[in-house]
Amino acid sequence: MPRNTRIKPLRSRGVRVTKAVIPAAGLGTRFLPATKAQPKEMLPVYDKPAIQYVVEEAVAAGIRDILIITGRGKQSIENHFDRSWELEENLRAHGKSRDLKIVREISSLVNMYFVRQKEALGLGHAVLCAKSFVGSEPFAVFLGDDIMDSRPPAISQLLDVWDAHQGPVLGVMEVPRELTRAYGIIRPKEMGEGLFRVEDLVEKPEPDKAPSQLGIVGRYILTPDLFEILEKTRAGRGGEIQLTDALRILKRRRPIYACALKGHRHDIGNKVEFVKATLAYALKDPEARASILAYARELVAEQD
Ligand code: G1P
Repeated sequence: MPRNTRIKPLRSRGVRVTKAVIPAAGLGTRFLPATKAQPKEMLPVYDKPAIQYVVEEAVAAGIRDILIITGRGKQSIENHFDRSWELEENLRAHGKSRDLKIVREISSLVNMYFVRQKEALGLGHAVLCAKSFVGSEPFAVFLGDDIMDSRPPAISQLLDVWDAHQGPVLGVMEVPRELTRAYGIIRPKEMGEGLFRVEDLVEKPEPDKAPSQLGIVGRYILTPDLFEILEKTRAGRGGEIQLTDALRILKRRRPIYACALKGHRHDIGNKVEFVKATLAYALKDPEARASILAYARELVAEQD
């Protein structure tokens, strides 16, 4: 070989994340009676069911295959993402081309798969139901109670960390100290701005026991070695198989990272926050904005 020939090193591009899992099997008891006969994931946040925001976030981040973990009474989620021939025909016949485009787009967003969680045994168990869909690839998990309004999409922020470190990544945000009992909380070791190594994590600690105020907020990039751990994870907090507990064991085997998410989070698992999210999205609609603001002013004036 001539002495000056330089051999370019092959650049490893790493494994890409193309699959996502959305657990949607919960009973929605915090939203009764609204959720008695319809899934909470289908409650409209302004003009779209809550789950559609999450699916659109995944699509915006380049995810092409989504598995939704459903349960009894959740058929309307499948119907929503399927084609509706009768509706399309009706809209076409009435010349409603704008509406036709909207309903068609929903079913063409992504490849959608469904599996049923037969018993409500907890988030860890729901994720375990994705084992055969995921196979040997890394995957994203989206919890539908958290609608993230951010650019770049929240999951893309996590994917950047995955691309750099090729390890599990948790989306976190600072939560008020008195609310640590509603979240998985991490013990962080700062690696850079907004990037942490997870030293420990605990599901819903009391405020005085919480290792920090960084709460896990419903976005994860996970690796398939988690499944073998989930299979052995016993019921933890609330008598449920907890994803956080399985991650705690995974952390002993490989580094886990956390990314402080930038953007606005709507925690729609909570009624007041749900109403705020509806308002926030309604105010983005130029056709609705002025009228809603005028009504809000009227309401405020009535209170004074
Ligand atoms: C779940 C997780 C928890 C996480 C939270 C985010 O709890 O178990 O670790 O912080 O989602 O919304 P849940 O809200 O389902 O009780």
